[in-house]
Amino acid sequence: MPDQPTPAPTALPRVLSLVQPTADSLHLGNYLGALRQFVDLQHSVDGFFGVADLHALNELPEPAVLRERTRRTAAQMIAAGLDPEKSTIFVQSHIPAHTQLTWVLDCYTGFGQASRMTQFKDKSAKRGFDSTNLGLFTYPVLMAADILIYKATRVPVGEDQRQHLELTRDLAERFNARFGETFPVPEPHILASVGKIQDLQNPEAKMSKSATSPAGVVELLEDPKKNAKKFKSAVTDSGTEIRFDEENKPGVSNLLRILAAFTGRSIPELEAEFAGKMYGHLKVAVADAVNDTLAPIRERALALLAEGTELDRILAEGAEKAEAVAQATVREVYDRVGLLAR
Ligand code: TYM
Repeated sequence: MPDQPTPAPTALPRVLSLVQPTADSLHLGNYLGALRQFVDLQHSVDGFFGVADLHALNELPEPAVLRERTRRTAAQMIAAGLDPEKSTIFVQSHIPAHTQLTWVLDCYTGFGQASRMTQFKDKSAKRGFDSTNLGLFTYPVLMAADILIYKATRVPVGEDQRQHLELTRDLAERFNARFGETFPVPEPHILASVGKIQDLQNPEAKMSKSATSPAGVVELLEDPKKNAKKFKSAVTDSGTEIRFDEENKPGVSNLLRILAAFTGRSIPELEAEFAGKMYGHLKVAVADAVNDTLAPIRERALALLAEGTELDRILAEGAEKAEAVAQATVREVYDRVGLLAR
């Protein structure tokens, strides 16, 4: 057989996502909705995954706390399986181009459009007028810059980020229409099965780093015994049947979702297995399945944090790779909008 010509290398799809360092530990929602997608995708894409420390700044954290949480968040991303040989892992503030692109996009974002962002409306209502800063208002534009600066085509996130992704798509389309094809219009990568993991104590609300009580939030860096206790006291409902019904049984449905995600089994299979069993059986099964996966992640993250230099090396390398891509986009954008070259 004659030699086949080597096919030209095709560029892998560019994928980007960031995680905010707003807590000492990430939680189960962050893991299933985001981190696990990053890890699954990284083998078949050109992945850029970062810690959104500039976004976290709008909560006005103590400087030492922000620094520590940034390292912890990066360590958990790596411990969850992100491989620095395959993916670019970086800290957002290490790449000044993010804020440079943000200003340009700010100028092309309508005040009305930014005012309609539901996360802004919810958070500003909670904080009150006097405690709402401009950073919270322009937060989605910085997020759009994070994505567009790498010309990402897919963005793995949880359901709560969908509206921000729509704004990003809109900004990309508007920019392209006015200045010529510059940005791919990015697609959200949101899995219906894990895009919205609910709080164990309040299954009507998403699991969140800013939950009023930690009792319903399963943390990656938590002692596995404590997490098992949280599952044991998860809110279910007054019935006895283990059945997936989000409207009438949000707590049980959330536990079934989590168990399905960690065992790879379907919800109907699990319903059949737990038919006639008590809620307690389901809770133990979920806690065991979750801990089997999370315990080694916790150990790896704590080891990386204790060791120190390896994490810094990975982030320095990531910054270098990310910066090269981001700077090139900013130069292109500055030129297109008419800023004079130096
Ligand atoms: P953050 O830090 O709140 O959350 C990180 C990721 O976890 C997902 N997530 C969930 N998924 C399922 N169930 C839940 N209960 C749950 N809670 C959180 C989030 O959707 C997110 O994917 N604005 C972003 C950070 C960001 C970003 C970006 C994301 C900044 N720039 C650019 C993508 C692209 C945020 O606050 O995520």
